[in-house]
This record gives sequence, structure tokens and C-alpha cells, in this order.
Amino acid sequence: MAKVIIKELTKVFKKGKNLIYASNKISLEVSDGKSFGIVGPSGGGKTTLLRLIAGLEVPTDGYIYFDDKLVSAPNKIIVDPADRGIAMVFQNWALYPNMTIYDNIAFPLRNMKISKEEIDKKVMEVSEILNIKHILDHYPREVSGGQMQRAALARALVKNPKLLLLDEPFSNLDAQIRDSARALVRKIQKDLKLTTIIVSHDPADIFSIAEEAGVIVNGTLVQKGEASEIYDNPVNITVSRLLGDINIIKAIIKNNIITFGNISIPLINKKLEDREVDIGIRPEDIKISDQNEVPGFINAGKVKIKVSSYVAGTFKVVVSPISDESIELDINTERPASPGTETNLFIRPEKIKIFDEKGNKL
Ligand SMILES: Nc1ncnc2c1ncn2[C@@H]1O[C@H](COP(=O)(O)OP(=O)(O)OP(=O)(O)O)[C@@H](O)[C@H]1O
Ligand SMILES: [Mg+2]
Repeated sequence: MAKVIIKELTKVFKKGKNLIYASNKISLEVSDGKSFGIVGPSGGGKTTLLRLIAGLEVPTDGYIYFDDKLVSAPNKIIVDPADRGIAMVFQNWALYPNMTIYDNIAFPLRNMKISKEEIDKKVMEVSEILNIKHILDHYPREVSGGQMQRAALARALVKNPKLLLLDEPFSNLDAQIRDSARALVRKIQKDLKLTTIIVSHDPADIFSIAEEAGVIVNGTLVQKGEASEIYDNPVNITVSRLLGDINIIKAIIKNNIITFGNISIPLINKKLEDREVDIGIRPEDIKISDQNEVPGFINAGKVKIKVSSYVAGTFKVVVSPISDESIELDINTERPASPGTETNLFIRPEKIKIFDEKGNKL
């Protein structure tokens, strides 16, 4: 097990005449036995950060420590990747097709100087944990997707890594096994108290696995904290979108009331001068109802239903303020709504996020 400390880590790539800051002064700490998740857009610098931690990239600047030992420094790899005690898992979790599950798991141990008995003991131990003992003599094509996943995880864990690095580990899996794969990784991480860093563009990966999270955009760590805290209080519009669905709408604040079209919502928990803003409202913080009251929500005005469709267990409804059909809000509802009809819009005022013209939180 290891604590990871990253200080002002920078990696610059040259692309023709351009310099790309794939990591830009990133500082973070992952405590021993904890899981840290990083979410970011494509090209944000997620893989580069993991490769730096693994020792596969040399930092342009900055330092990486495992526990209190310096492993990477400016232009210098101090501890080789092979000696860092890490296991890195990529998107495809690929197993060698011409080897049995047993040999796949044993593979990382084969070029170490350990006896056959010792290898067998370790493979059995990890297979017990992952419940795949009964498929060890099968070939990858003979097992299910979920079992393949377990075998690949066993192969990553068989060397008792101090640190597990996961790069978009679930994006190639079918939706049906993705949730159980996430739960499995979370359980193993917790049971083994394995320091884990996961990067993904999918916030669901981060929510299901990481105790702490960070957001990387253009190589910069723009926000850090509990995933739910970042979800609720994103520092800017980009971050708010990376963490989940959100409606971003142009609005006006006047006398501490937010308005767009005929919709008005009191500004709660803060005071702002009269001005134009962008507001962010997540779909779960809005409801529509023909009632006049909904507990926990305020009645914000009349809207017209534009579209109602059924997606994965909920109805996705699009509504517009009756005064302005160019403004649209996406809502999730339990019941279908009839397009063309009018209803009341209810909002949780304390959940509204307010951004300035640059998209930064006010
Ligand atoms: N070896 C390299 N040479 C030049 N540029 C690179 C190299 N590796 C990465 N980059 C650039 O660094 C930036 C960050 O890339 P990186 O692969 O870390 O992003 P990412 O967040 O993992 O993206 P994705 O979600 O698409 O996997 C990108 O602009 C990429 O083009
Ligand atoms: Mg990547």
C-alpha cells in the first residue's frame, strides 16, 4: 500500500511548433488505501497523468512521491516503472487469447524469480477473492464478459500492487456488466485497502469508485473534493457538464430574484447585484406538476411541454417557459407528459448554480 504525493507536476509535449501542457502544475495527494477518481474531457490529460505516476513518462517539471520516497523528478525517472509496485489497467482489460485464465493470471509472475508453488499459491489466492477458481483452465473465449473482467482484475492484482491505476476501465464493457464491474472494483479496492487512482470521462465511474475526486481540463486540475461536492458546487460550467446532465440557461438577476421568460426563482443563500448570468439546473432539481405545491420545491411559473420520451426507466421531458419557446429545459419525470399542454414548473432554489459571463461560479 502506498500514499501518493504529486507536487506541481507538469508534462509538456511538442506538437510541431506548439507546446501542449498535458499536465500543468498538478498537485494532489492520495492517502494510503484510498481511491481517487479523475474525470475530464478527451485530451484533458488523464492518461498522461497516470503514465507519469506509473513512471512511463518523464516529468517536464514537478515531483512524484510514493510514501515519502521520491520516484519522479524534473526530467528524471528515479524509480523505474517495474520497481514501483503498480498495476495499471487500461480500457480493454485484454487477456491473451491463447492462454488459459490461469496462465493469464500467472503471466506477470512468470518472469519474476519465484517458484512454481509460490506462483500457484498466489494465483489461487487472488482467484478465490475474485471467485473465478472454477474457470482457471478455460480459455478467454470460453468465459463470460464478467468473468473475463474478473480474470483481468486478478492478473492486475496478483503481484500485490501497492497502487492500482485504472484508465477508463469500464468503457469497453456492455452496459449490463458495467455496474457490476464497478461494484467489484470498489469492493476489492476497499477489502484490500488498495490505493487506487481511476481516470475516466464518465462521472459514473468516479461516483461509484472514488472517495475523492478531481477534474482535469487542459492539463489543469481545476477542482478537487468529494465527487458529490463537485457535482453540487462545480467551479465552472465545463466542470458542471463533466459531472452530469445540466440545463444551462441565460437569466437575469434583479432584486435577488432570478428570471428567465416568465419563470422566476428566489435567489437563496446568497445576494448578488442585478446582472445577467448563466444558471445551471440539474434535471433532478426540477419537477413539473399540475398541483400548486410540491414539497421541497418552489413554484416557478408556467411552462409548456414540448417533448416527452421514454429512456431507460424515466421519461425525458423538454419544457419551455410559456412566454419564450426558445428556452428549453430537460427534466426527468416518472410519468409521461402530453406535448402541447401547460403545467407548473417546480425548482429546488438552493440547488441552482450561478455562473458569470466567463462560465465561472458566482
Ligand atoms: N506522446 C505524446 N506526444 C504528443 N502529444 C501527446 C502525447 N501524449 C499525449 N499528448 C497530448 O496531450 C494531451 C493529453 O492527452 P491524454 O492522452 O493524456 O488525454 P486524455 O485525457 O487521456 O484523453 P482521452 O480521454 O481521449 O483518453 C492531448 O492533447 C494529447 O494530444
Ligand atoms: Mg486517455
